[in-house]
Order: sequence, then C-alpha cells, then structure tokens
Amino acid sequence: MGSDRSGDELQAQGTALWAELVRAAGMHGHPWRQLVLATTCAVRGAQARTVVLREVDPAARELVIYTDTRSPKVAQLDRDPRAQIVCWSAALGWQLRLGCLVTSESDGLDVTSRWAMLRHTRAAQDYLSPLAPGSVLSVPGDSSGTAPGAVRGTFTLLRVQVQEMDWLSLDPTGHRRAVFDYRDAVPCARWLVP
Ligand SMILES: Cc1cc2nc3c(=O)[nH]c(=O)nc-3n(C[C@H](O)[C@H](O)[C@H](O)COP(=O)(O)O)c2cc1C
Repeated sequence: MGSDRSGDELQAQGTALWAELVRAAGMHGHPWRQLVLATTCAVRGAQARTVVLREVDPAARELVIYTDTRSPKVAQLDRDPRAQIVCWSAALGWQLRLGCLVTSESDGLDVTSRWAMLRHTRAAQDYLSPLAPGSVLSVPGDSSGTAPGAVRGTFTLLRVQVQEMDWLSLDPTGHRRAVFDYRDAVPCARWLVP
C-alpha cells in the first residue's frame, strides 16, 4: 500500500516536472527558460554554456534549443550527442539535471518553419553574422552586418531527447531526490538519497 502510494507520488512528480518545463519554455523570466547545456569537447573536455529553452514536447520527451550552425557546440554534439542540461529554480527549490542525446538540424521543414517566424525579429541577426561565434575581433562588440548571400543564415535547431531526469528538491522540511529513466520502453522512476 505504502509503496503504491510512493509510486503514484513519483509518477505525479514526473508529470509536474514536464509541466514546469512546458511553462518555462513559454514564460520569459521563468528560471528554467535559461538552461545550462554541457557538452564534451575532444580537446578541452566538458564545455557548458547558457541557452534558451524554446519548445518542450512532454509526450516525445523532447526539448528544442536554437543555435548557430557554426558554434562549437554543434560540432561537439555531432561528434558526441551525449549532453547534460542543468536548471535551478530558487522559487521552487528545484534543481533538474537532464541526461540527453542532442541532434542538430540545419535544414528541413522544422528548421524553415521556425526561421520563417524568427527572420523578421531582432534575434535573426544572431544567425546572419558574417563571422562565426567565437571568432577573434580586433575591437569589442558584435560582428555586425549580414553575410553576403545570407538567406536563412546559420540558424540551427538542437533537438534534445531526454533520457533521464534527476530532480533534487531543497526543502527546509526535508530534501527529496528522484530519478526518472526513459531509456527503456517502460520508464522507471526511483527515489534517491538527496
Ligand atoms: C542568457 C543567455 C542566453 C543564451 N541563449 C543562447 C541560445 O539559445 N543559443 C545559443 O546558441 N547560445 C546562447 N547563448 C550564448 C551561449 O551561452 C554561448 O556563449 C554561445 O552559444 C557559444 O557557445 P559555444 O562556443 O559553446 O558553442 C546565451 C547566452 C546567455 C547569457
């Protein structure tokens, strides 16, 4: 009886986490809208950076992030798609660590449909720059202007398949931690020592 209730609670917590991710993607200022994405570089080892959570599909257990095709993270993910995402909400007291497989897409309908929405906004400029992110500049600032012939720019989708969620709740009445593993056809969830 006790373990049934505990299992129901785990399942409800998993659902709540996905609902929070959906909320975060649609809400400017939600602390989970800005995620830390960590990848592996063959030379430098772990590489982490902030990215914006754009879309969440709980049924497919998928997230979408936008980036520049030329950014080093794309080459790192093409070489090794395993990545970790970390987010923290002080308001909720929740840390979420997502073990993921990430694939990059720079053409196809999913890319062109997003670019059609983005291209008339200020954010489009991020993907039309003549210089790749991380290029050396002689003076500080943007590499302004548009690359000759740039049409869709260097806009790329990162499709993030979540394989595992590790949730930690910091609470004065007692911390809690659970892991949700989606690798098998039947997802498996467990409580862990925080
Ligand atoms: C608040 C914030 C949001 C960011 N959002 C994105 C993003 O959605 N996509 C992205 O590629 N870079 C984003 N960046 C820039 C990255 O953190 C990083 O500097 C850049 O992508 C280069 O990363 P890389 O050299 O590891 O590929 C963001 C930075 C900050 C501070």
